[in-house]
Amino acid sequence: MALRTVREIGDPILEKKAKPVKEINDHLRELINDMFDTMYETGGVGLAAPQIGILKRLVVIDCGNEDGTENPIVLINPEIIEKDGEQTGYEGCLSVPGKMGIVTRPNHVKVKTMTLDGKEEILEGTDLLARCFCHEIDHLDGVLYTTKVEGELVDSNSMSEDDEQ
Ligand code: NI
Repeated sequence: MALRTVREIGDPILEKKAKPVKEINDHLRELINDMFDTMYETGGVGLAAPQIGILKRLVVIDCGNEDGTENPIVLINPEIIEKDGEQTGYEGCLSVPGKMGIVTRPNHVKVKTMTLDGKEEILEGTDLLARCFCHEIDHLDGVLYTTKVEGELVDSNSMSEDDEQ
C-alpha cells in the first residue's frame, strides 16, 4: 500500500488542466492502486490525479453500493456526454479539508470513459454518484467546487450527521 500526499487548496497544480492518459501500462496501474489506497485511507469517495500532483485525466471513485459493499470505479480520459435533472446539496473535497459547501449538480449523468483494457465504456450515475462524477471531472479541468459553491463554506464538523451526504 502506498499513500500519496493530497494537495490542498492554494496549490497551483489544482487549477491546471490535466492531460489525456496516452498509455495504459504498469506505471498507470500502480498509480491507480495508490490513488485507491489514498482515497480509502482519507475517507474520500473520489480522488482525481491532479489532487496528488499528477496532471493526468485519471479519477478513482467509490460511492459504495446500497448494500454497503465497495464499488470501485476508475475513469480514464472521462467526458460527460449527457446530463439531466438537478440536485442541490453539500459537497466536500479532500483538497479542501474540514469544509463543505452547497453545490447544484445534475442528478443524472452519462460519462464516456476508457477501461483498463483500452476499450470505450459508458457509465451512468445518479444522485451521489452523478455528483461525484461531476466533481472529479471538474478537477481534471482545474476546477474546485469552491468556485461553484452557493453561499459560504461551512466547517464540516459543525454539521450534524443528517446534513452530510
Ligand atoms: Ni475534490
